[in-house]
Amino acid sequence: MLSTLQPAGTDAAEIARLFWIMVAGGAVVWLAFTLLALHASRSRHTRWSERAGVRLIIGGGIAAPAVVLGALLLYGMPKLSRQMAAAPPDSVRVQVSGEQWWWRVAYQREGQPPVVLANELRLPRGVVSEIVLTSADVIHAFWVPALAGKIDMIPGRTTRITLEPNAAGTFRGVCAEYCGASHARMAFVVQVVEPADFTAWLERQSQPARRDPAGEAAFASAGCAACHDVRGAGSGASIGPDLTHVGSRLSLAAGTLPNTTEALLRWIAEPAHIKPESLMPPFRALPAAELQQLAEYMRLLQ
Ligand code: CUA
Repeated sequence: MLSTLQPAGTDAAEIARLFWIMVAGGAVVWLAFTLLALHASRSRHTRWSERAGVRLIIGGGIAAPAVVLGALLLYGMPKLSRQMAAAPPDSVRVQVSGEQWWWRVAYQREGQPPVVLANELRLPRGVVSEIVLTSADVIHAFWVPALAGKIDMIPGRTTRITLEPNAAGTFRGVCAEYCGASHARMAFVVQVVEPADFTAWLERQSQPARRDPAGEAAFASAGCAACHDVRGAGSGASIGPDLTHVGSRLSLAAGTLPNTTEALLRWIAEPAHIKPESLMPPFRALPAAELQQLAEYMRLLQ
């Protein structure tokens, strides 16, 4: 669901309200001018006095637009500054970086290493979460229409957005700034859950990967470990997405494929067919049994 008019967060609700008030203001102006035009076309036989004409121009051409547009401006301007306000100190803090073409996600924890994952956010309902954004390459933009407005992710700079979801559910997010060949295949999901479920989920995500010696050997011999980390079993590489709990994600390749063994097989063999110009190299040369083993290992990493 990518509608800004079905808000599930405080800021999105504010944006939807602003939209409807602007629409109402525009409708009032449109209606007034349409009525005037109809009136003018029907009363062409009666001559207006010069005074009446001047009054119409001053009233309808200067005073009315100044009042309507001024009121809309006064209503809309303070909303701009709301997003600039700092998040409360007890907010959930998540660092998100735009990459070619996926989202690097790191939950910050007081006095502990961050919990790293990719292409998925989970947020507690009714709690403010601060998302700190940056980019590894070009300008991307972070946008979850149901929760808040969009904001640019700029290389060498950090930007911030606060999300305060007020309804549980799964919401789609997208990259809202053209960033290259697979810009349209750069999506993510935000799952809003109850705070207790959020804490339990973050705890699970912070755990090292499930061990599987055969899968780990296949992962290492195919060269996957050169780019991807599987915490507790991997190389610590961070070029590509962290795969520690990849099996538990809702989708693959940044919202492009369902998370199934069959989709994993396709993705590992020919990533560029699914996501043009992805940095992941093709592994079509691997024997089918090895591909199968890798895909099954990924599914196992719940
Ligand atoms: Cu990233 Cu468009």
